[in-house]
Amino acid sequence: MTAEYTVQGDIATITLNNPPVNGLGHSTRLGITDALAKANADGAVKAIVLTGAGKAFSGGADIKEFGSPKAMQEPNLLSVILAIENSPKPVVAAIHSVCMGGGLELALGCHYRVAAPGCSVALPEVKLGLLPGAGGTQRLPRALGVEPALNMIVSGEAIKSEMLAMYPGQKLFDKIAASAETLAAEAVAFARSVADVRPLPLVSNLPCKHPQGAAYFQFARNMVKGMSKNFPAPAKCVDAVEAATTKKFADGMAVEREIFINLMWTPESKALRHIFMAERAASKIPDVPADTPLREIKAIAVIGAGTMGGGISMNFLNAGIPVTMLEMKQDALDRGVATIRKNYEAQVKKGKLKQDKYEQRMSLLTTTLSYDALKDADMVIEAVFEEIGVKEAVFKELDRVMKPGAILASNTSTLDVDKIASFTKRPQDVVGLHFFSPANIMRLLEVVRGAKTAKDVMATVMVIAKKIKKTAVVSGVCDGFIGNRMIEQYGRQGGFLLDEGCTPAQVDKAIEKFGFAMGPFRMGDLAGNDIGWAIRKRRYQEKPDMKYSKTADLLCEKGRYGQKTGAGWYDYVPGKRDAIPNAEVVKMIEEHRKALGITPRKVSDEEIVQRLVYSLVNEAAHILEDGIASKASDIDMVYLMGYGFPIYRGGPMNYADQVGLFNVVQAMKRFALNPLDDAKFWQPAPLLAKLAAEGKTFN
Ligand code: 3HC
Ligand code: NAI
Repeated sequence: MTAEYTVQGDIATITLNNPPVNGLGHSTRLGITDALAKANADGAVKAIVLTGAGKAFSGGADIKEFGSPKAMQEPNLLSVILAIENSPKPVVAAIHSVCMGGGLELALGCHYRVAAPGCSVALPEVKLGLLPGAGGTQRLPRALGVEPALNMIVSGEAIKSEMLAMYPGQKLFDKIAASAETLAAEAVAFARSVADVRPLPLVSNLPCKHPQGAAYFQFARNMVKGMSKNFPAPAKCVDAVEAATTKKFADGMAVEREIFINLMWTPESKALRHIFMAERAASKIPDVPADTPLREIKAIAVIGAGTMGGGISMNFLNAGIPVTMLEMKQDALDRGVATIRKNYEAQVKKGKLKQDKYEQRMSLLTTTLSYDALKDADMVIEAVFEEIGVKEAVFKELDRVMKPGAILASNTSTLDVDKIASFTKRPQDVVGLHFFSPANIMRLLEVVRGAKTAKDVMATVMVIAKKIKKTAVVSGVCDGFIGNRMIEQYGRQGGFLLDEGCTPAQVDKAIEKFGFAMGPFRMGDLAGNDIGWAIRKRRYQEKPDMKYSKTADLLCEKGRYGQKTGAGWYDYVPGKRDAIPNAEVVKMIEEHRKALGITPRKVSDEEIVQRLVYSLVNEAAHILEDGIASKASDIDMVYLMGYGFPIYRGGPMNYADQVGLFNVVQAMKRFALNPLDDAKFWQPAPLLAKLAAEGKTFN
């Protein structure tokens, strides 16, 4: 059992001990009720303290149990809380560090609460597509007040204990301890002071009303609906809190329970829970043990002060890590620094960054034209032109000047990281760090592991990624790594769809309705259609058998590169990003179609979405087979964090799992029969075919 029982004179202490965050799994719940029974049976015990070992009071229900019978196995969380409420001896929660979800609900079931200052308190269930399911929606409004409680429940955001203690009339905390260190002793003393007080105070007995009643909840509902359109949980949170104000406690609990169970089975909640786990799993590399010693990274160098170099530098400056930026010419350095300044100044103007923080960050930035100035850096990230000859010259210089053990990283998006490593005498120190543009904003970081990259280099960059607030996903070396290798197939489908009868706007609209931030043609215009054109020209040489639609080439021949030229698949008004359909482009597509002898057909939105999404899925299955990604959930993270895949669908692999891999394969077989598509591509990847045949899933 993962709860400990100790007695100090007349006070018993129950300590949750289920690392890492005292999740309230079955064994912990059993531990609590057993200890509670012991304390109540012991005549010498007058009061009970409930606390948590390690780095949390409790992070809430054990998310890993969700969806399994264990989650509801008795004693379930509701029964545990009821047992505490019904305890004839007072139970005092001693709360420190983290008190979230079921952890806070457990504390609300106690008769008293003493909290350490600085403790993060939240009901974050909404972030998992749920609402608090063990009385949180009924007890928190009673303890804290309806409005602040609703805000916490709908946002899921954590608030510090000492802030909550300042709410007028709050009954959430009976005492804020002087410090985390004195919490245990203060809680015991508090328990002793209330040992004989009867009747025992219960949060569930407190009144719960809002002066504006229904009008307030209607207002809250409207606000919430506008902000969370694809997520059902936030609006349901409002319903449950309203029930707390209109119904008796027991009836409100029944409302909460019903909503909780219904939400648990929604695809949105499944997707959000999948993402929670996937994000944490991404930082674990199967053959790199968690205790791998790390290299110390105190100072960074960045080569190239262009689009990427500037954004990459900002990440480190934001994290308080000094950066030395190197360029070939002073004016390039000046331009790079000016762009960084401009970005920060925009943040200051919007009130998102304080002036002194801005100055502090800029003071961490130094610039140089000389490689010798890099000798003290612990890690260097190269972001120069995407030409192998330029990379070779840079890495030879880095090999010459960087200190032994420094990490040499390249931000290349298309070149072979092993080849880059071979330009040095220390390939074990070389790694790809593929940031996405704008690098200071996009959360995704593909960490490209070369054949010789050392394990401690991998472990170190995964930690550094977390420090600069990136979601790092490991990719093996291949053309396009994980994300761009998949997007190429998606782009090819976009082209075939135009050939067959669609307009760019129709394709974009269909996939945006599915939830993508941007369809393939708007995305092409944003990234620059010339980039795809250059890649295709290379492909025509390397893979002459690969089928492509030629429409994108025709567009580029007209100089329509996208937003940067004011014209691409769409037209753009200077200074605006709105995509305006262009009749000439539509005519160009029609003429090309005619030249190919194709009679256009009406393609349904469903077919558009399936072909675009399943092309990602099939390529991803090949990526898994090739060992480029080590797990399907990593691929989901790449698409969610870097390519605008809808969060509420949990990524392409999670989505395919939800559709059912058998159905996905059946659709691919249908697409393979279309003479205008690429029958060879639509042969399901062997891994996908196997999983589908066995009725299994990717994740
Ligand atoms: N259940 C199971 N495991 C959990 C967990 C939980 N509730 N919360 C965190 N963990 C695990 C993580 O998976 C991770 O495991 P790993 O080491 O194997 O990867 C480990 O704890 C550490 O997590 P983090 O990396 O996130 O550590 P941090 O220190 O950065 O953050 C935290 C700690 C603030 C507790 C953060 O993990 C968090 O926000 N957890 C989720 C809290 C939550 O959503 N609770 C509500 C659960 S639902 C619920 O209670 C339903 C109830 O109403 C009925
Ligand atoms: P950029 O052209 O904006 O910047 C490159 C900078 O490198 C220029 O300022 C140039 O003066 C400098 N430079 C060139 N040779 C140099 C040398 N020998 N020594 C020092 N500085 C040198 O290019 P961008 O877009 O920043 O790309 C840089 C790298 O990042 C490329 O490898 C690219 O493939 C990669 N990348 C680009 C992305 C993007 O969206 N722009 C996304 C992800 C990766």
